[in-house]
Amino acid sequence: MWQAQEIKQSLKSKIFGRQIHTFDEVGSTQDIAHTLASCGGIEGTLVIAETQTHGMGTSGKSWVSPPDGLWFSLILTPTLISLNQAPGLTILIGHSVARAIREKTNLPVLIKWPNDLYLNGKKVAGILSESSCSEVAVKYIVVGIGINVNVDSTLLPVGATSLKDELGKELSRLELLTKILQAVEEDYLKFKVEHNLQLFLKEINELSLVVGKKVTVRLPDKLIQGKATSIDEQGNLMVELKDGETEIITAGEVSLRE
Ligand code: BTN
Repeated sequence: MWQAQEIKQSLKSKIFGRQIHTFDEVGSTQDIAHTLASCGGIEGTLVIAETQTHGMGTSGKSWVSPPDGLWFSLILTPTLISLNQAPGLTILIGHSVARAIREKTNLPVLIKWPNDLYLNGKKVAGILSESSCSEVAVKYIVVGIGINVNVDSTLLPVGATSLKDELGKELSRLELLTKILQAVEEDYLKFKVEHNLQLFLKEINELSLVVGKKVTVRLPDKLIQGKATSIDEQGNLMVELKDGETEIITAGEVSLRE
């Protein structure tokens, strides 16, 4: 079970984890983080649980959260980041998490745009970013990170895997958490200065599962087919259509074509 004191002692980050709330079982760490944030919870507050009974994924999907995973939410209060910069920040966080996992495990984790983490063709982690906004600015963002660390894949949905099952051994969740918080904080502080992904573009494109591949993109009103050519500094996905035109995708569900 998570102990706030133990997490604090191993943290190397300065902002993330200044406040830590640990739980054995919650509905969703997102809900708790939203409540804390709306009552003045400070930037970097970490909410972490051993299990979630109503874990939330993107697009209203549920997120299976049995024991032995990493299920946590962070409160960010990025003043001076405008609404249209928030998607870029989410892309960046997915990239920071992938980088941290790669450094810790040497596993070839890739990112399926916008921020699903894949390993050997199976989903191993996901990011859910939820903003609370005024008319022009972001008031706070709750970033939820779910990683199937030491979970047995048989407990996960079809098409998902865990780090343990791909690596063939268990990992220290505390060490991985520490590494991720440090990586995300490092990149977040740079993003707060730059306001775009320019500094990270090369690596973001290199770690992309979709760039260079034929894709289908499901938008609310249509399906697009083409070749994903790159991710730009706002975090948009460029898709080249058959007629040579480029479609700029700001949001949507991407799948790879054979
Ligand atoms: C996805 O669908 O890929 C996003 C999954 C996000 C899951 C994490 S687990 C911690 C936090 N609490 C939740 O209920 N969801 C996020």
